[in-house]
Amino acid sequence: MKIWSVVSQKGGAGKTTLALQLAIAASEQLKVLLIDLDPQESAERWHQIRQRITGTKDDPSIAAGLPPKLSDMLKTARKLGADLVLIDTPPKRERAIHAAVVAAGLVLVPLRSSVLDLQALKDTADELDVTKCKGKAVVVANAMPSGRNRDGAIKDIMRYATPLKLEVLAERLSDLPAYSQGLKSGRGVTEIERNGTAAKEITTLLEALWARDSEVAAA
Ligand SMILES: Nc1ncnc2c1ncn2[C@@H]1O[C@H](COP(=O)(O)OP(=O)(O)OP(=O)(O)O)[C@@H](O)[C@H]1O
Ligand SMILES: [Mg+2]
Repeated sequence: MKIWSVVSQKGGAGKTTLALQLAIAASEQLKVLLIDLDPQESAERWHQIRQRITGTKDDPSIAAGLPPKLSDMLKTARKLGADLVLIDTPPKRERAIHAAVVAAGLVLVPLRSSVLDLQALKDTADELDVTKCKGKAVVVANAMPSGRNRDGAIKDIMRYATPLKLEVLAERLSDLPAYSQGLKSGRGVTEIERNGTAAKEITTLLEALWARDSEVAAA
C-alpha cells in the first residue's frame, strides 16, 4: 500500500485540489482512500457533494480524523486492501503535518510561484527537517502560468527549492480553471475532460509519482 501525504505550511497552495485530483484519477484503476487530516474537512465535505451529485459511492473513499487517529485509519486501509492512500493536511498545524509525513512513502509539496508562496517554502522545509522526512519529499510546481511567464515561474521555484535541498518534479500543474470547476460538481479533471490539459497533467503526474514511490520502496 502506497501512502502519499500532501503538505505545505502555506494556505491555498493547492493541497486539497492536488490530493482530490490524484485520488479521483487513481481510483479509476486502484482502490484509493483519501484521509482528510484538515479540521476544515474540505475533502470530506467535497466527498458528500460527489456522493449527492454523482451517486458514486467509494471511488475514492474518504476518511476524516485527527492526527492521533491516523495510524488506526491506515491499519483499516491496509485491512480493506487499499492500493493508495492520499493524506490531505492543513496548513500551520505541525501535529497533523508531522503525523502525515512520518507515515508517508512520498511527501508531495505543491508550490505556487508567487513570492509569498516561495518564501513560505522554508517553513515546510523546516518541518520536513524536524521529522527527517525531506528525502521523501518532492515539490510539485502548481498553478504555473502559461505563455512567456511560465519559464520565469519555474526558474523562481527552482531558485527557492534547490538551496533547501528539495527536488522539483519535472511534471507540473498549470493554472487552469478546470482544476476547480469540476470539483464543484463532485468530479475530477479526468472525469470531465479526459483529453484536456488538466487531465493529461494529472495522469502524467500520477504515473511519475507511482514510479518514484516504487523506486524509493525498492531502494
Ligand atoms: N492548478 C490550479 N489551477 C487553478 N486553480 C487552482 C490550482 N490549484 C489550486 N487551485 C485553486 O486554488 C485555491 C486553493 O486550493 P486548495 O484549497 O486546494 O489549497 P489548500 O492548500 O488545500 O488550501 P488550505 O491550506 O486552505 O487547505 C482553490 O480555489 C483551488 O481551486
Ligand atoms: Mg486544503
